Amino acid sequence: MKPFTSCVFVALLSGVLATPAGPAAVAKWESFKAKHGKQHSVHEEPARMQRFLERSAEIDAHNARYEAGLESFSMKPSQYADLTPEEFARSALGFVAAVNASDIPLSEEPMMPSIPSKFDWRDQGIMTPVVSQGYCGSCYAFAGAAALEAYLKWKTGQTHDLSEQDVVDCSYKKFLGNNHNGGCQGGWPTAVYEYYNQKGLVSEREYPYTSGSTKTHGPCRIPNAKNDRVRGSLKIKNVKPKNENEMAALLVSKGPLVIAMAADNEYKRYFNDLGDGVFDMDHAINLGPNHAVVLVGYGNQKGKDYWVIKNSWGKEWAVGGYGKIARGKNMCNLTKFGVWYVEQ
Ligand SMILES: *[C@@H]1O[C@H](CO)[C@@H](O)[C@H](O)[C@H]1NC(C)=O
Ligand SMILES: *[C@@H]1O[C@H](CO)[C@@H](O)[C@H](O)[C@H]1NC(C)=O
Repeated sequence: MKPFTSCVFVALLSGVLATPAGPAAVAKWESFKAKHGKQHSVHEEPARMQRFLERSAEIDAHNARYEAGLESFSMKPSQYADLTPEEFARSALGFVAAVNASDIPLSEEPMMPSIPSKFDWRDQGIMTPVVSQGYCGSCYAFAGAAALEAYLKWKTGQTHDLSEQDVVDCSYKKFLGNNHNGGCQGGWPTAVYEYYNQKGLVSEREYPYTSGSTKTHGPCRIPNAKNDRVRGSLKIKNVKPKNENEMAALLVSKGPLVIAMAADNEYKRYFNDLGDGVFDMDHAINLGPNHAVVLVGYGNQKGKDYWVIKNSWGKEWAVGGYGKIARGKNMCNLTKFGVWYVEQ
């Protein structure tokens, strides 16, 4: 069959099957587009709207169960709610494990005899604002920058707004042999820290983020950093805590930690449209981590232990850009690659 013919056929078929959207549905779609600054071509628009409305209906059904006390978390459409699962995986994630990642050493930290029952680095005033990676698999750069910004604020009191674009463009295919970063095709947190350690710091103002809309990396525009605050002095740690209590102890003593987690797959999508409450479901059994985020705190809500993570999907995601996920059961495979942090 000629591709052109099949294309027309599919378009006609989906046109026939699509339920006509009522005014309320159209208004919902318009307000979603306005909120996230979406612009689609005339070609794309109908399919995007249909996908968003289907997603909204799933979210409404989930929230009815949440209201009835049958789910531990609510949902709301994220900026990715009109994407296909494949598009989502390509453009909103960005963690790629290094080839020798199974060699991660066990943490040598002694277990803290008593860690607080709850803790949150936001209460210490060291977390910098939540930003968005947009449509680029650059979570590795965002998680690394967010954790380093918090570390520097904690240790020096100074606020930095680091350039993620610098990492996306300039660490491209560098560091750690095959374990390099791949622009918008994902990366590995150790390589991000290696990069800062070699180059120094470049600010967002010097090198603003553009890959969120261009969806690709560009040439390295600032080869040498003026700010040498961390150059040659970062001790990079990637260790595997023996359990999630030890993970909590590391969080309290080492500062916000970069972690890798399984954030949805093409069959089940819940995490990307997280709202309030504690994310707790077997949504990604047998799924390897595909997303890097920053672990910032932990606690217990209505009898459920949770972690707090800082994501890079904008302030609209979950609650102000921060989400809660269940703690103590390897939720989202978040213990698989251990934790990353730096010391000086
Ligand atoms: C992986 O290999 C790189 C390059 O040989 C090395 O620098 C790094 O420490 C290794 N990572 C682990 C976790 O062993
Ligand atoms: C965790 O990820 C690995 C791949 O990195 C996978 O083999 C394993 O099944 C996952 N575990 C769970 C509990 O999903």
